[in-house]
Amino acid sequence: MQSKRFATLFVTNDFGPRAGGIETFIHGLVERLPQESVIVYTSQQGDTTAYDAKWLADFGVKVIRDKSKMLLPTPRVIMAVRSVIKVEQPKALVFGAAAPLALMGKFLNVPRKIAITHGHEVWWAKVPPFNLLMRLIGNSVDHLTYLGEYTKSQISKPLSKRAKSAMIQIAPGIDTQIFKPVDASKLRLDLGLAEKEVIVSVGRLVPRKGQDELVKALPQVLKSHPNAHLLFVGTGSYKKVLDNLIADRSLQKYVTFTGRVQYEDLTKYICVGDIFAMPSRSRLGGLEVEGLGIVYLEASACGLPVLAGDSGGAPDAVAPGLTGLIVNGRDTNEISAGLIKLLETDRKAMGQAGRKWAVAQWDWQIWANKFIELIGD
Ligand code: GDD
Repeated sequence: MQSKRFATLFVTNDFGPRAGGIETFIHGLVERLPQESVIVYTSQQGDTTAYDAKWLADFGVKVIRDKSKMLLPTPRVIMAVRSVIKVEQPKALVFGAAAPLALMGKFLNVPRKIAITHGHEVWWAKVPPFNLLMRLIGNSVDHLTYLGEYTKSQISKPLSKRAKSAMIQIAPGIDTQIFKPVDASKLRLDLGLAEKEVIVSVGRLVPRKGQDELVKALPQVLKSHPNAHLLFVGTGSYKKVLDNLIADRSLQKYVTFTGRVQYEDLTKYICVGDIFAMPSRSRLGGLEVEGLGIVYLEASACGLPVLAGDSGGAPDAVAPGLTGLIVNGRDTNEISAGLIKLLETDRKAMGQAGRKWAVAQWDWQIWANKFIELIGD
């Protein structure tokens, strides 16, 4: 009976409440597995009592918190996970992020072992001696998943022949019933943006996401679009840098920060935008890249034209010319030209094409079905 109830054990640092792309991805997978079939073994993130109880109430997901703030593949954590496996006898073990947790895979006895890769495994695959650990990770599980062709090409480099050929694409999908065009005119009014041409950008405020380049590109855009306005949704350590850039250029009245918004409100905030922009750029000599960029797909699903940076796998999340544009995330002129182009394009037609593309190619159910098949549920 036990093995039937909790068929899948997730071991992950990225289960929230903290928000981010990996968390969004893991949540999307977990929510679509059968009720009462998932246990999550994860790290501490403050008082999560109510948060964990909600997962149990809504999805029958049992959350077990390790005592550490960050799970690492140490002997203590291996023993702790082994105890869970002994009691629950899951059929599948899923590492929410392959590096480094899936190094534990070799020491855990479960019929099927899967490790999910994102953007950060790209640098593991490139830098010695981490590339050797990446090879070990590949050999410690039955399947490594990948987001798209770019990350696959990089991550597969150090893998053994077997691990390479066992890679399977599992990308994060979009709940196209939640992310859809909605009337956001009241929110626009509340934000004081009723008369503006809003360029919305959703994401953690960190250097890779290129919010600074949007600020730098804005004066050029304002020349031909004096009502243009940047709307930043999200929080992060880069806020101070952005504030300084804005103050240096006296752009305060052209930029709004909302801070973090609740998931339930996110669609409306995206729909305040006329276009979406996040010119992500690779950093550290190509070691830090965008794995995919769920926000681009969320924006397309909401019917907005999208401007994306050419970092890592981000181009996989845009159909150039159809759903948006891909620009060099380090070239301010190219970014301002791209923004102007999107503001002047037939936004409705491009937005509709984006919505259609998101529903056809990226709906969660497509990827969830593939994942369910993979874990053998
Ligand atoms: N509710 C809420 N509020 N959600 C937010 C906020 C906010 O203020 N800011 C960001 N998010 C959500 C976005 O809606 C999206 O679902 C997620 O956080 C961000 O995902 P990504 O755009 O994919 O970026 P990431 O850098 O955090 O994620 C990494 O892993 C992803 C999955 O593998 C990157 O490597 C991505 O490229 C990759 O897609």
